[in-house]
Amino acid sequence: MRMVDLIEKKRDGNELSTKEIDYIITNYTSGNIPDYQISALLMAIFYQDMTDREITDLTLAIAHSGDVIDLSPLDGIKVDKHSTGGVGDTTTLILAPLVASVGVTVAKMSGRGLGYTGGTLDKLEAIPGFKIELPDEEFIRIVNDSKVAVIGQSGNLAPADKKLYALRDVTATVDSIPLIASSIMSKKIAAGADAIVLDVTTGDGAFMKNIEDARRLAKTMTSIGKLANRQTVAVISDMSEPLGEAIGNSLEVVEAIDTLKGNGPEDLVEMCYALGSQMMVLAKQAATIDEARVQLKEALESGKALLKFKEMIQNQGGDPSVVDQPERLLTAKYVSELPAKESGIVSKLVANELGIAAMMLGAGRKTKDDAIDHAVGLKLNKKIGDPVQEGESLLTIYSNEEDISSVKELLYQNIEISDSAEKPTLIHDIITE
Ligand code: URA
Ligand code: CA
Repeated sequence: MRMVDLIEKKRDGNELSTKEIDYIITNYTSGNIPDYQISALLMAIFYQDMTDREITDLTLAIAHSGDVIDLSPLDGIKVDKHSTGGVGDTTTLILAPLVASVGVTVAKMSGRGLGYTGGTLDKLEAIPGFKIELPDEEFIRIVNDSKVAVIGQSGNLAPADKKLYALRDVTATVDSIPLIASSIMSKKIAAGADAIVLDVTTGDGAFMKNIEDARRLAKTMTSIGKLANRQTVAVISDMSEPLGEAIGNSLEVVEAIDTLKGNGPEDLVEMCYALGSQMMVLAKQAATIDEARVQLKEALESGKALLKFKEMIQNQGGDPSVVDQPERLLTAKYVSELPAKESGIVSKLVANELGIAAMMLGAGRKTKDDAIDHAVGLKLNKKIGDPVQEGESLLTIYSNEEDISSVKELLYQNIEISDSAEKPTLIHDIITE
């Protein structure tokens, strides 16, 4: 096989065979095919698209380019959850202990974040002592005993995806549905998932800016799941404003604890019920979504889920007393308010720009080697649809620098107050196949 012929084939809109896709990924991973040829192929895929069969082959080839985790020593159906990206998305911190407390096996590998706020691992590291690296045997032992552990991805998980993603980033080929779908699904399969629940976000803060594209991405991923024998469900959710109230690592841990205590923001709680109930049904821990929701609600209200979070922190070397005294996590030097300049109804809180404001404070990374400041971030006091009086605080800013005038300016540019505004619909659709 010659790579140039395969590029030409895709350029002309033809379907690549399973063998050809395997050849490309195997030889790209080993360094036998140069970046410039893969760049050309990526651009051809961007314009010509791929069939579901091609995308599934691509996904499986990427998944098998490195280690594939074997979770079979663990009891139960292993359901993984993934979000295509959001701002202030605290759900994994809540869902992991919540669904584990009602019997779902959660052996989760999470990533770090780039841009906006940190990823789940960064947030967990805001808890003093919490270890995100565990030896394999200990990971398995903890999950078998306690149903839940959340750790970092092993070094050699889907190495082809790391190379492809870095190349896409500099060749304007990130926002391609076959490439996003195969990138996400390959990592879930390599991480050992039997079944997958996806949160496909849409809106300003997301990859998919409109519902039609989000639906296409969701359908592509559920179809890969079906062809690869991993039952997959996708929830299409709104990310035009940040999820919940907290944006920033320690702030989101506190928000997760509040939510597990039954005092979470309405949208975040609803998101956890929507995703958690799908996880329970796929794990066969509930027969129907309604039954699952009843159990999840009971786990939050009884304190069972909170207790599971404490256990998870303890098992992974963290200080579980933060659950009883979460305010100890809030160590930013300066706390200031952003007053509304007029009275009215909040009509816009542009999610990605608020994420950038949090990143400017130090809550996220501009490049992958940047350090994160766990203490800083934003806490929204108003969401879209809420009335506000002139001078009332729109949000609270936690910073370690005294001069945050440029952050405040960016925030004001991305918050609108009007005469009227509706609360956005949180869940747009649920795609089962
Ligand atoms: N997230 C991923 O892991 N890969 C993509 O391509 C896009 C979002
Ligand atoms: Ca949040």
